[in-house]
Amino acid sequence: YTLNGSFTQETNFYGSHDVFELLEQYGSPLYIYNEAILRKRCQEMKHLVTYPNFVPHYSIKANTNIHLLKIIREEGLHADVMSPGEIFLAKQSGYTSEELFFIPNNVTAEDMRYAITENVITSIDSLDQLKLFGELNKGGKVAIRFNPGVGAGHHEKVVTGGKKTKFGVNPEDISEVKKILETYNLKCVGINQHIGSLFMDYAPYIKSLDSILNIARQFEDLDFVDLGGGFGIPYHKQDGEARLDIKALGEALDPVLFAFAKEYGKEIQFQIEPGRYIPCESCVLVGDVTATKSNGGVNYIGCNIGFNALQRPIMYDSHHDIEIYSKEKRTLAAEPFTIVGNICESGDILAKGRVLPPAYRGDALALLDAGAYGYSMASCYNQRFRPAEILITEADTVRLIRKRDTFEDLIRNML
Ligand code: LLP
Repeated sequence: YTLNGSFTQETNFYGSHDVFELLEQYGSPLYIYNEAILRKRCQEMKHLVTYPNFVPHYSIKANTNIHLLKIIREEGLHADVMSPGEIFLAKQSGYTSEELFFIPNNVTAEDMRYAITENVITSIDSLDQLKLFGELNKGGKVAIRFNPGVGAGHHEKVVTGGKKTKFGVNPEDISEVKKILETYNLKCVGINQHIGSLFMDYAPYIKSLDSILNIARQFEDLDFVDLGGGFGIPYHKQDGEARLDIKALGEALDPVLFAFAKEYGKEIQFQIEPGRYIPCESCVLVGDVTATKSNGGVNYIGCNIGFNALQRPIMYDSHHDIEIYSKEKRTLAAEPFTIVGNICESGDILAKGRVLPPAYRGDALALLDAGAYGYSMASCYNQRFRPAEILITEADTVRLIRKRDTFEDLIRNML
C-alpha cells in the first residue's frame, strides 16, 4: 500500500511488481528504474526544437549505467563525457567517437592523450590547457568552452557560469585564444558553454545565448555550438511543483537558432547537454524502514539508505519527495518526521521535518527522482555496499542492470 504520494501510482512505476518482493530479491536499498519514463525524457530532448541540425548530448555524469546508456543512445542522443572513465563507459555501451564530446576541466596530459587517441573531440576551458592541448595535438581539431557570464543553478556548488566559478574561457580572451590556435595550427570546430545545473525558469538559458552566439560570430568556420545543459526537473512533485515548460523553451530557442544559421551562412549544428533531465525521474531509491525513535522533541524514521547511497541531501540540502509503503493498510494522520540513514554521522539526514504518514519497521520508503547524481555519486563509505540497480522494462519484466556490491568488492583493489 502506498500511504502517501502518488507519483509511482500515477506513472505505474513498478508495473505489476511488488516493491517488497523486489527488495527481497535484489537486496535493500535498491535503485529501481522505469524504461518508459527514461525513453520519454529522451524523446522530449530529441524534439525540443524544429531546427534540423540539432543534436542533444546526454551528459553521462548524471548516470553512467551502460544499460541505460544503451537505451539513451537507441533514442538518438549523443553523449558528453568529462573523464577518460566516462569515455570508456560510453564506448562500452556502443557510442562511437563521433557521437562523443569530451568536456573536461583541469585535466592532465594523460587524460587529453586518452581522448586524442580515442578520436573524441575535446573542449578546452582555459588558455593554459589550450597550450597543453596544442603541444599534444598540433594541427588537430579542438573546441573551446567559454564562460557565458550568466549563471544559474539549484545551489552555489553547481552554478558554472558567471564570475564566481572556475569554468570556461573569459570571452574577453578571444584574441589570446586565436593566437594559441595559430601557434599550434589548431582548428576550432566548436564552442560550448554551460550556465549551471537545474533551472526551472529558462530565462537565464535564453539570455546566455546572446553571449555564446556573439562569440560564435567571431569564429569563421564552426561546425557546432553547444548551448549547455542544466534542464531542471520538479523535485517537489508532492507540493505540486510545475514542470519545466519544455515546449515554451523550445519555442524560445527555435527562432534564435534559425536566425543565427541564416546570418552565419551555414546550417551550423546546435547541441545541448542535459544530464539530470534524462534519467532523473525514471528512478526511485527504495529501502527499508529500520527503526523509529524520538529525541529532543524530534520524531525520527530510521532507514537503511545512508548518504553513501544518495549524497544529494547532505551535499546540497537537496529535497527528494518520499513515499511510504506498508504491507497492511493504515490510515494515520501525517506529521513531521526527520528521515535518517544508517551512516555513523549526525549529518546523515535524508529529510528534515517532512510531513509524512507514520512509518514503522517493516515498511519501505522510496526517495523519488533519484536517477541523476544518485548511483553515480554513491560510495562504499562505512563499507556499506552500493545498491543494485534494476530496470522495469516496457514489457513489464525486471532486468538486473548492476549487481549490489559484495564483500569481495570491498577488498578488490587492496594488495
Ligand atoms: N555540461 C557540463 C559541462 C556540466 O558540468 C554539467 C553538470 C552538465 C552539462 C549537465 O548538467 P545537468 O543537465 O545535469 O544539470 N551533482 C549535482 C549536479 C552537478 C552538475 C555538474 N555538471 C546534483 O546532484 O545536483
